[in-house]
Amino acid sequence: MRQLIRKILGRGTPRPEARAGKTGPKRERSEEPDAMGEGSLIRGRVQREKPGGVVRIGRDCLIEGLVKTESAEGRIEIGNNVYLGGGSSLSSAKSIRIMDDVLISYRVIVMDSDSHSVRYSVRKKDLADWKDNSGHDWSTTESGEVVIGKGAWLGAGSMVLKGVTIGEGAIVGAGSVVTKDVPAWTIVAGNPARKIRELGEDER
Ligand SMILES: CC(C)(COP(=O)(O)OP(=O)(O)OC[C@H]1O[C@@H](n2cnc3c(N)ncnc32)[C@H](O)[C@@H]1OP(=O)(O)O)[C@@H](O)C(=O)NCCC(=O)NCCS
Repeated sequence: MRQLIRKILGRGTPRPEARAGKTGPKRERSEEPDAMGEGSLIRGRVQREKPGGVVRIGRDCLIEGLVKTESAEGRIEIGNNVYLGGGSSLSSAKSIRIMDDVLISYRVIVMDSDSHSVRYSVRKKDLADWKDNSGHDWSTTESGEVVIGKGAWLGAGSMVLKGVTIGEGAIVGAGSVVTKDVPAWTIVAGNPARKIRELGEDER
């Protein structure tokens, strides 16, 4: 009978996934940050891989990407008026600090560790550790705090690696890989990112 009514109303047969009670790809829900200021909005996701990770978000931010602590020591501090674009991720096993007014475009990756050891004999155990949830031995992995200075702008698809400090007002060109510190009010681009020019007083 239901089929007949559907046919008359022109709705056809429901899709198999609708019959199974599914409405599309499942979206994992965001965890709560440890602190979040007034006017901030999370459209993306906060995730702690291990208990103990700390995520603090300031005022008037828009988080469309992933903010993820990888270890119990991971710490992500985001200032005020910060944008994290869709498909971007902040991944912390140590410390990532994002200062006020930073713009992080879409598909940007900021990481404060290498995630794996450079030694094959150590690295080959990582997958098994993750699968049985016994945890990763972070002492075998290089890491270094990342700081993104006030008012900096990271272009689409760029990457900032462990230990890097990006100076105030600096700009990272689209698709760049930043491996070394960037001075304030400087544009860098390329892989590895190199200085293009300094920003003038009228651009600050
Ligand atoms: C970094 C950027 C702002 C530079 O702007 P600009 O000061 O006008 O620089 P120019 O376009 O004059 O380029 C200067 C030089 O840098 C090179 N360059 C610029 N951007 C580059 C990039 N992303 N990667 C590699 N080289 C780049 C140019 O080819 C040029 O090289 P040349 O001197 O050998 O000819 C711009 O190129 C960019 O990458 N914008 C990102 C935009 C974005 O991601 N938006 C997403 C929305 S938030």
